[in-house]
Amino acid sequence: MLTHPPLQIGLAGFGNVGAGVYKNLFKNRELLRERTGRDLQVRKIVVRDPSKVRDVPLPADLVSTDLDDLINDPEIEIVVELIGGTERAFELVKSALLQKKIVVTGNKALLAEHGRELFALAEQQKTPIYFEAAVAGGIPIIKTVQESLIGNHIESVTGIINGTCNYILTRMAEGGLGYEEALGEAKDLGYAEADPTLDINGWDAAHKAIILASLSYGCWLPADEIFVEGIEKVRRKDTQFADKLGYTVKLLAVIQLHTDSGAIEVRVQPSLISKDQILASVKGVYNAILVCGDVVGETLFYGSGAGQDPTSSSVISDLADAASRRGQLETGNGRTGFVPHGLYGRPMPVEDTISKYYLRVEADDRPGVLAQIATLLGKQEIGILSVIQPEDHDEEVAPIVLMLHYAPFGVVRDTIAKIGALDCIREEPVWMRVEG
Ligand code: HSE
Repeated sequence: MLTHPPLQIGLAGFGNVGAGVYKNLFKNRELLRERTGRDLQVRKIVVRDPSKVRDVPLPADLVSTDLDDLINDPEIEIVVELIGGTERAFELVKSALLQKKIVVTGNKALLAEHGRELFALAEQQKTPIYFEAAVAGGIPIIKTVQESLIGNHIESVTGIINGTCNYILTRMAEGGLGYEEALGEAKDLGYAEADPTLDINGWDAAHKAIILASLSYGCWLPADEIFVEGIEKVRRKDTQFADKLGYTVKLLAVIQLHTDSGAIEVRVQPSLISKDQILASVKGVYNAILVCGDVVGETLFYGSGAGQDPTSSSVISDLADAASRRGQLETGNGRTGFVPHGLYGRPMPVEDTISKYYLRVEADDRPGVLAQIATLLGKQEIGILSVIQPEDHDEEVAPIVLMLHYAPFGVVRDTIAKIGALDCIREEPVWMRVEG
């Protein structure tokens, strides 16, 4: 039996995810009514272009083109922001909170850029922001970190959190595709955005890493204090050399607490991981996040990190959560989305982070070349773990692949720049971390 009036929802955006939310709210409305005790009703939908042809038909009686219609309608309790971008979305979310309308958003870039300010406003207004869909599509990682693991110091979070990059790297390693060809496939299949820049330059994953790190460590991390590299430099031959050496290449988000200093390491980089590590088996467009807590130990979350239905599942879970909890904030029992505290330190400079490395150079095929490279590494006390130079290379230029011992990132970066400047080196060296 329904004990509350329907929850009136204002939906901003009817793209892939917005349409999925509308479609699946309708599909599972009875189930949601039984579970939350309320009807979840979409009252208005704001789109830029109502005439656009869509897979899910836009219900004409609910449509508006003015975001203010959501803010000014006193019946709307929840604004679902799925318009993307950071400017209009920021204004919309701020206006909604000022009107004490609950916000649900899947906008990782918005939160990464303006999270500190928006959560402070949410706290001031005692009005929550829900954002399960902002990280890893359908995987319920936000509620996991916020609720299920609340009794843990989070020791590390290691994630494959961009499906497009994981798809491209998988196809290069297993399908033998070149980078451009694999990217083209990812676009054709609708995994990559029409403009995939943020996917392949690492920033889509970085926005998600900022959110996960901030929730884990209680301070909203500034984007300019984390290190981000994309997969643009990775070539098919790197995925193949990695395979020969017993590794696979993944775009990894690494978030780690250094308990000795209290510093937090946060970075996104293409990295080699050993094939026997659990994340190595995450292939194609899938995402996975490995979270280690001091009480729980190791936990792994796997699923679809993008796409209409998985992402709308997360938005709907936020709507149901909001429907069930409405009213708790006034009594002091609710949470507004992010709880800042000062228990941990600052982000660690990437220069100080330590790992092993993979290095590939394309060098003149003549005596003494390897010695020059080894000398530069030796001067900086960077040890060589192994070297491969295949015999079947072309006549003048040979790829040389070196696995390097543990060393600080800053020292390795400077040394590889010197190697790249040697006369015998024909292309920009490709180098990646090897995660232990
Ligand atoms: N384009 C993203 C991905 C999904 O490929 O994982 C939205 O963040």
